[in-house]
Amino acid sequence: MRLFLKIIGGLFVALVLVIGVLALSLEAKLPKAPIDVVAGTTGRSADDESSILIFGATRNTGLIVAELLQARGDRVTAFVRPTSNTAALQALGTELIVGDAMDIETVRAAMSAGHFRSVLTTIGCLSCEPPPDYQANANIIKAAVEADIRRLVLITSIGAGDSYDVIPSLSKRFLEKTLPMKTRAEDELRASGLDYTIIRPGGLRSSRGTGNGVLTEENDVFGFIFREDLAALIVAALDDDRTIGLTLAALDAKRKWPWSGE
Ligand SMILES: NC(=O)c1ccc[n+]([C@@H]2O[C@H](COP(=O)([O-])OP(=O)(O)OC[C@H]3O[C@@H](n4cnc5c(N)ncnc54)[C@H](OP(=O)(O)O)[C@@H]3O)[C@@H](O)[C@H]2O)c1
Repeated sequence: MRLFLKIIGGLFVALVLVIGVLALSLEAKLPKAPIDVVAGTTGRSADDESSILIFGATRNTGLIVAELLQARGDRVTAFVRPTSNTAALQALGTELIVGDAMDIETVRAAMSAGHFRSVLTTIGCLSCEPPPDYQANANIIKAAVEADIRRLVLITSIGAGDSYDVIPSLSKRFLEKTLPMKTRAEDELRASGLDYTIIRPGGLRSSRGTGNGVLTEENDVFGFIFREDLAALIVAALDDDRTIGLTLAALDAKRKWPWSGE
């Protein structure tokens, strides 16, 4: 009996140590040099009928971006799937175009269905088969080039491309299939000739934003960000042409741990 208790005790201590080491590996590496981005009051003048086409607006970050843009008077068009839950977008009065970004013909049709001055894609999916992280975004980039919609903002993730080394081993394991796809999508966009901005968020949190979200060109940073703060940074990046041609990490500048102070 004593030996059994000793074994259980030993296993418990080992488990606590493993969890502790894994948790400590999640400590953020915060940016030293955030860039200054400025959101306008509205991206369009009164006689401008152009719209911003969002892929991924049905929920989370993309939906908050749609809300922010429409609240300040921008026109937004959301590309949604036949299976998407569009209740939130319908409540907002967002114009909808139905298709599937994995099917380039539907993306082409969407881009020629209106006058779009910019495109945002937040598309990604860990549980989808096939995953859209490369193919859907590659279709969007190709169709934007063909339709001559010059401005495109792509949301990927810290860990993609030259930011791979900075992420914890746990994230590398968890995202081992996703990160190469996001990296390919980034490469495709850089080679496209479009006026692009790539934003790589850290780990996403869904509580209310802190206002501490920042963008940085540093590729050796890691951390966390609230979707509300990320959405505000995306709007600012769409507005601010100084972000064209940049690959930027998006982080909460004050958040050291995923679980601290929400
Ligand atoms: N979770 C994290 O911690 C984390 C960290 C860093 C980066 N990211 C990345 O950040 C981005 C935004 O993440 P999020 O959690 O805010 O949003 P999300 O919940 O992942 O939303 C993904 C959006 O993509 C749409 N979508 C997926 N496949 C599609 C397809 N084939 N055609 C059209 N739409 C499609 C979804 O539409 P439906 O409603 O139809 O499914 C949804 O609107 C993602 O790219 C994600 O990978 C996430």
